[in-house]
Amino acid sequence: MIKACVIGWPISHSRSPLIHGYWLRQLGIDGSYTRQPVEPASLSKFINELGTAGYAGCNVTIPHKEAVFELVAGADASTERLGAVNTVYLRDGKVLGTNTDGEGFINSLRQGAPDLKLANQRAVILGAGGASLAVVNAILEQGVTEVAVANRTREKAEMLRHRFGSRVTPIDWVETADQLGECCLLVNTTSLGMKGQPALELDLSRLGKHAVVTDIVYTPLRTRLLEDAAARGNRVVEGLGMLLHQAVRGFSLWFGVTPQVTEELYELVARDIDPDFRR
Ligand code: ATR
Repeated sequence: MIKACVIGWPISHSRSPLIHGYWLRQLGIDGSYTRQPVEPASLSKFINELGTAGYAGCNVTIPHKEAVFELVAGADASTERLGAVNTVYLRDGKVLGTNTDGEGFINSLRQGAPDLKLANQRAVILGAGGASLAVVNAILEQGVTEVAVANRTREKAEMLRHRFGSRVTPIDWVETADQLGECCLLVNTTSLGMKGQPALELDLSRLGKHAVVTDIVYTPLRTRLLEDAAARGNRVVEGLGMLLHQAVRGFSLWFGVTPQVTEELYELVARDIDPDFRR
């Protein structure tokens, strides 16, 4: 039996076992995927002994993504740019790390908004934390001319420019609404709008009607930002898609089969978040 898991501290809320468990059943694979609480003090031991413990690999979540990047024996160029790992796998006895958050974001966007063209366009991103880093990196890789980053703490947006170069332009948080005119994509990567967090208040009146709006928050499945954008007629992409799509490559690395993000999987996880979910 092939074993994989997700590590974090705390980890009890992770929906990854639901996703990978669905694929294991659907594809008839003799494997398991469990939650493993790993406290920061035990992290290096857990990563170093992953193979000995019988794991093919693991997912990594808060607060370990940066620390695991430092612990793995190697990572690909895109992951090196991020300095954060969300997927660990063994190859030739070595513990390697990669990050699938960016492709999760892009593939979710492609599925939800197939007509969206990012090359030579401008995107506006709210937030400059860990999630923003992966999203900005992925959008830049798609060939946009400009990623405008609005963050409450402007210095963190400035740090993104320092890290990724002059296509990233920090903007003032209070000026976000005025900056929406020329963008093809608006993304919320902050925790605003999440269940239990303050609301995201943003005037969308300057947003063009062809702009796509997405939120990485998926509790609730449809945030106020998405509701407001959909009410104006903008295409919206829900945050849950990123969670499902980021899981694909890890599954393929550990279990040897590339799984599909199906409507059935979406509904399974959506119903776990909101028992009243209906398409
Ligand atoms: P994650 O890894 O999920 O991105 P994070 O690194 O803690 O988490 O980043 C959280 C993001 O939400 C940041 O951009 C943060 O803004 P600051 O850098 O100014 O802290 C943003 N955020 C959280 N609460 C916010 C609030 N009340 N108003 C505006 N932005 C907020």
